[in-house]
Amino acid sequence: MRQSPLVVVANRLPIDDSVAPDGAFEWRRSPGGLVSALHPLLRHTPATWVGWAGGTGPAPELPDVDGVRMRTVALNAEDFRDHYEGFANATLWPLYHDAVEQPEYHRRWWEAYQRVNQRFAEAAAEVAEPGGLVWVQDYHLQLVPGLLRALRPDLRIGFFLHVPFPPPELFMQLPRRSELLRGMLGADLIGFQRAQAAHNFAQLAAKVLGLSATDRRIGVDDRVVRIGAFPVAIDTAEMAALAARPEVADRARRLRQDLGQPEKVILSVDRMDYTKGIEQRLKAYRELLASGDVKVRDTVLVQVAVPSRDRVGQYQILRDRVEHQVGRINGEFGRVGEPAIHYLSQPFDRAELVALYRVADVMAVTPLRDGMNLVAKEYVAARVDGTGALLLSEFAGAAAELEQAYLVNPHDLDGLKQGLLAALRAGPEDVAARMRAMREHLAHNDIHAWAASYLSALEESGSLVGRRPAPR
Ligand code: ADP
Ligand code: G6P
Repeated sequence: MRQSPLVVVANRLPIDDSVAPDGAFEWRRSPGGLVSALHPLLRHTPATWVGWAGGTGPAPELPDVDGVRMRTVALNAEDFRDHYEGFANATLWPLYHDAVEQPEYHRRWWEAYQRVNQRFAEAAAEVAEPGGLVWVQDYHLQLVPGLLRALRPDLRIGFFLHVPFPPPELFMQLPRRSELLRGMLGADLIGFQRAQAAHNFAQLAAKVLGLSATDRRIGVDDRVVRIGAFPVAIDTAEMAALAARPEVADRARRLRQDLGQPEKVILSVDRMDYTKGIEQRLKAYRELLASGDVKVRDTVLVQVAVPSRDRVGQYQILRDRVEHQVGRINGEFGRVGEPAIHYLSQPFDRAELVALYRVADVMAVTPLRDGMNLVAKEYVAARVDGTGALLLSEFAGAAAELEQAYLVNPHDLDGLKQGLLAALRAGPEDVAARMRAMREHLAHNDIHAWAASYLSALEESGSLVGRRPAPR
């Protein structure tokens, strides 16, 4: 196996196996913020991406994707159930998102988490060049930094958490809290989306492990681990270039016609996840239709909700509830040929998604809790004509940067309705001024700036005292 100077380790590879409409087997870019952030970044760099290709069979051999080497890690049916669906997505995911759904704790899941983390660490150890840089991603792999350091003390190791890191009172619920903290502290630099998350982590390192910790540095054995906030971003220029393509503009015009040339199009694009606030948003929309503040002929709502983690109970329940709600609203308020909500539970290619962004007068992004939310940033970057109103939850990481959005608390139904009406009724000057400021921010704070700031902090971090030569 050839080795690389840069290795990214993430549960998911940037491509997913899927079956095309004609029945043929194809590889497609996987939906989700982590892949959207890292994929444009790594293109054409001599890097290896260690990850899982979806499915529970043996690890497939994959060709390079845009010049990046793929090193697949296999999950068998038990790993998939207990590591991916279990500890990662039914323990950590809900706990880290304010416990908006109840986290579940099972000892068997923890065993699978350890086992799978070990497998990822071994794969990374195999493909990293001596003295190379390994960048471990997200909550599925929190033990990898520590395990990898034990295998390869010569490496520089970074860890980045794409999701929120919870306050101590929630994290303290975790039966294996100290092992998880220790695992992350195997890194030289731990990056979070927000400064509050780094603060939470430092408090826990002091409280649970008795370490000396500030919001920037933590002393562990003979090393210093740096921590900090690095809000993840998108490839702003690439998104704008795609949005400006004539065929995308044409597609947006046709979509508007297909939607019946309404005065206003509202769009939401989410993975079908209970953190995204889909039910609350639909409820607010239903009340606006019922009160007559919004009329079906003038306004349409397009809800894209791509199925996600669809064997996990909480996700199945959510999907049923959302689809029931959509059916009910369309039954009550739609007319023949004029549904109140256009509901699409399909993955789309980038050009189609961007055409949808271009057609949306209002983009409603109202998660109950979200590490960042790249959809909000993609929408702003795609509005190349400077129009469009962003309705954004205060509880998305993106709200710390996109302060000119129409900010709402999605738990407050009346506030959500008022925010939506404000975005729908805003004057063109107000909308343009807000959009200009947000586009300006994203022009400077793009994915390349994010990577450069993280990687230069990683270069500077880590005490070289503890670094040893690569084993032969
Ligand atoms: P999360 O990471 O929780 O899914 P983000 O908003 O940060 O949330 O990222 C979602 C990413 O997935 C975005 O890049 C978005 O464009 C992409 N995406 C969302 N829905 C779809 C879909 N139906 N088809 C293809 N890509 C999608
Ligand atoms: C979020 C997580 C990612 C994950 C993505 C899609 O963005 O932070 O780690 O890849 O959701 O979820 P999935 O379970 O399909 O990988």
